Amino acid sequence: MIPTVEWKEGAVRLLDQSRLPEHVEFVNCRDYRTVAMAIRELRVRGAPAIGVTAAMGVALGAQGIDTADYEAFVKAVGGICDHLAATRPTAVNLFWAIERMKRTLASLRGRAVMEVKRALIEESQRILDEDIAMNKAMGRHGAALVHDGHTILTHCNAGALATGGYGTALGVVRAAWEQGKKIRVIADETRPVLQGARLTAWELMQDKIPVTLITDNMAGSIMRQGLIHLCVVGADRIAANGDVANKIGTYSVAVLARAHGIPFYVAAPYSTIDLATSSGDRITIEQRNAEEVTSIHGSHPIAPLGVEVLNPAFDITPADLVTAIITERGVFKPYELATQFKHD
Ligand code: MRU
Repeated sequence: MIPTVEWKEGAVRLLDQSRLPEHVEFVNCRDYRTVAMAIRELRVRGAPAIGVTAAMGVALGAQGIDTADYEAFVKAVGGICDHLAATRPTAVNLFWAIERMKRTLASLRGRAVMEVKRALIEESQRILDEDIAMNKAMGRHGAALVHDGHTILTHCNAGALATGGYGTALGVVRAAWEQGKKIRVIADETRPVLQGARLTAWELMQDKIPVTLITDNMAGSIMRQGLIHLCVVGADRIAANGDVANKIGTYSVAVLARAHGIPFYVAAPYSTIDLATSSGDRITIEQRNAEEVTSIHGSHPIAPLGVEVLNPAFDITPADLVTAIITERGVFKPYELATQFKHD
């Protein structure tokens, strides 16, 4: 699998997801402002991938600070962190990763700035490596829920592309596939930005995992025909009570799954669990440009000029619609998260 994000020759190299699947291109970010722009423009997207990228953005920005004074250095890094944190509001991994970089910085008080700069690069690499390891562990736990012959419906892209690698929801799929289970994925296209059509379908086809693409409004009918055995999606933020923020349309899938007696699973690492937020109502939902809705893939217009548009990028699925949450530590009921993860 092509790396989603990596530190390469003193730059942050991103696979440009806004160009997929037609073009496999990379963005080489040589300063933190370009990293922030890439996050805002969805060149890199998906909660864990955004977190890793922001951490690398902090490390990259830190390299360009021209001072030997630790306090002045900390102040300048703080400004870089604020800039990166202002890119997208919903995925908590962004804030989690930035906080982790700040903690590393604070732990190195008194050391030479050159040494601190190196440590920040190393910490961002650790965040990336840990993310991949967590996804593989999550995959192992989740694969136990997937049986030979199962068809799995997923929404948006929660795959290698949305993470440091391997994926959360698609990590579960990948692990089951690697165990030799004959499975199939139904990918919702995921309007308006089409992460399901452009990214999930592409990623699974690269790995030769059987995938069938549907438009979002087909899911209910397909469930009614008994063609779906389980749903697995990712998450951008999970509140302490188990409510899940994920790509717009996830809530509809969860309601449909409940109506048809189909298990609905969420796969997410601890960096997505936000115990400081009590419930889904308190999660800020990003509102994006009207053009995402009034045109297809930013070019072909499909609506009358000037029409009023709503474009929330995420929705909240209440905990009671979630069968279980698959994490790197095991599979838990949504209400169990607060006790399982309270010490992190
Ligand atoms: O707007 P995006 O593409 O960043 O939204 C991504 C999603 O909603 C994913 O489903 C979520 O981040 C889980 S990714 C492992």
